[in-house]
Amino acid sequence: MFKDSIPGLEKVFKSDVDRPKVILVTGPPGSMKTTFCYSLMSNYLKDKNEFGLYTTLEETVDSHLKNMESIGAKLSMKMQISDLTDLREIDQIDEVIGQEAQTDYVLFIEKMIQRFRKTHGDKFSIFVLDSLGALYSLMENVSDMRKKMFYFFKMLRDNNLTCYIIMERSLSGESQLLGNEGFLADGILMLGLDRQRGKLMRFLQVEKMRAVEHSMERHAIEVGKNGIQVLGPLLTAP
Ligand SMILES: Nc1ncnc2c1ncn2[C@@H]1O[C@H](COP(=O)(O)OP(=O)(O)O)[C@@H](O)[C@H]1O
Ligand SMILES: [Mg+2]
Repeated sequence: MFKDSIPGLEKVFKSDVDRPKVILVTGPPGSMKTTFCYSLMSNYLKDKNEFGLYTTLEETVDSHLKNMESIGAKLSMKMQISDLTDLREIDQIDEVIGQEAQTDYVLFIEKMIQRFRKTHGDKFSIFVLDSLGALYSLMENVSDMRKKMFYFFKMLRDNNLTCYIIMERSLSGESQLLGNEGFLADGILMLGLDRQRGKLMRFLQVEKMRAVEHSMERHAIEVGKNGIQVLGPLLTAP
């Protein structure tokens, strides 16, 4: 179950997240979006006969793995991690015709998902995109992103996946970038930093989650010896 994948996450989710789902994981830089999604995926897959695909567009696979190792998140044999180089290869192998198509990274991701699905069938259950902002900045043609995102999210659901789409935003910022993402998504998680009695605390908050019973409160998160964990609700100042 997803809610048991990170210690303490069951304090936030009372019922489980069933697939298909597209969930935005939002927050400012350094708010643990990458750590959260990676830990969730690797812990979830640990004792299941299912497979996951993690796409890191902000850094290389090597640097991503080094960072995750330093934070205590473990690599699972049932997950594949791919970066920009892999996406470009997919393009070359499939000989995309035309200039414009060569920067359509949304299409490359779709192809990679199809390929992973061919290998693992319905056992391919979880996908992470890190991050949507990086994907957009790679694309030359960002016109009609609303339409593109509509079909991208639809494709993810059609593949019966639980997807975590990382999207940077400030605490007060909207959960939209170029393509109506907040409306299209089944869920929005907010990761952030909060000052509590002069101490900076990291927190997780569910803003939206279709078909799941959940808490609306900010929950403190912490990195311990065994990686990330969810503590209790943050106390709000009187
Ligand atoms: N062992 C650790 N304990 C606590 N915090 C850590 C540890 N290692 C890294 N961090 C913090 O985690 C941050 C990285 O989190 P990350 O998941 O990459 O955030 P995001 O993807 O939201 O930018 C680092 O900037 C650092 O502040
Ligand atoms: Mg990150």
